[in-house]
Amino acid sequence: TRLVGLVGWRGMVGSVLMDRMQAENDFALIEPVFFSTSNVGGKAPAQAKNETTLQDGFNIDALKRCDIIITAQGGDYTTEVYPKLRAAGWNGHWIDAASTLRMKDDAVIILDPVNMPVIKNSLAKGGKNWIGGNCTVSCMLMGVGALYKAGLVEWMSTQTYQAASGGGAQHMRELLTQYGTLNAEVKALLDDPKSAILEIDRKVIAKQRSLTEAETANFGVPLGGSLIPWIDKDLGNGMSKEEWKGMAETNKIMGMGEGFGTPAVPVDGFCVRVGAMRCHSQALTFKLKKDVPLADIEQMIANDNAWVKYVPNTREDTLRDLTPVAVTGTMTIPVGRVRKLAMGPEYLGAFTIGDQLLWGAAEPLRRMLRILLD
Ligand code: HSE
Repeated sequence: TRLVGLVGWRGMVGSVLMDRMQAENDFALIEPVFFSTSNVGGKAPAQAKNETTLQDGFNIDALKRCDIIITAQGGDYTTEVYPKLRAAGWNGHWIDAASTLRMKDDAVIILDPVNMPVIKNSLAKGGKNWIGGNCTVSCMLMGVGALYKAGLVEWMSTQTYQAASGGGAQHMRELLTQYGTLNAEVKALLDDPKSAILEIDRKVIAKQRSLTEAETANFGVPLGGSLIPWIDKDLGNGMSKEEWKGMAETNKIMGMGEGFGTPAVPVDGFCVRVGAMRCHSQALTFKLKKDVPLADIEQMIANDNAWVKYVPNTREDTLRDLTPVAVTGTMTIPVGRVRKLAMGPEYLGAFTIGDQLLWGAAEPLRRMLRILLD
């Protein structure tokens, strides 16, 4: 049985990962070693077998014992520990949710239902670094990867509607607290059906604009009842880092572009934070390389993998199946609103949603573990 180190298993992504590993019986196949950065020497969780004490996540010798390490501890941890571990001669498999190593030449962005050939190719060449993709990109490719696999995409533009969870657990709390604060501000007026809506609106905007620094500490500005059209760092060229990831990671996942000897497919658009909890949604515009009948496109998308769900482009189906509320906590990736656009027969529109903690973060990691154990 292989020794598998788990780091960051108590955080939000780590907890979702633990739940999924439990549900899929992954622990039966491994000897887990639980690491901690805050409670070294404490008792490991119930999934532990022989290794019942929490090990020091910064102790290179302890980490070196592992055949495989899975971390959801975050980028700072990876930056600090990973180079030391390799410098100490560790030759195991590193499976990581953080973006730190994603674009390195010796790393594969893992999303096996979409890029198993890229993973297998790297494995055959001795690849050891398996990094989870950006949540938005992973959820998008789980939905419409079929069009890329078929080589049909000339370019894609994406407009995202990203949930609070992408920022972290504190961001989700902040959003809900803001909703509560705004509701409390106008509760009496809401309870009175004869109150004036414009008075309610005035009070809400006044409250939003007067939220304290503490009430907006995570997002920087109010998100409840608003939106924020910037996610992650300012790259200084007009793009946010989240927007940059769209093209860079889509191409790397699909094995296209620089380093693969093929031209990169342009992917660009705007990434927007909205007041959803944990599902990232995206409106996609494709320029296809040729006019493909809509029925064929439907078939390709619907049959691509076991999790994609083709949602017929009707109001009723959309409202029932194509919302963050419908998708949260499920492995389903709905793709709907699929239609040809007014610009011409090669222009295709679609809308897709994914739980950013499942396919967007935890699931590709545990599936990579399974691939390594096969
Ligand atoms: N950057 C993503 C977001 C998080 O902020 O929504 C996961 O990649």
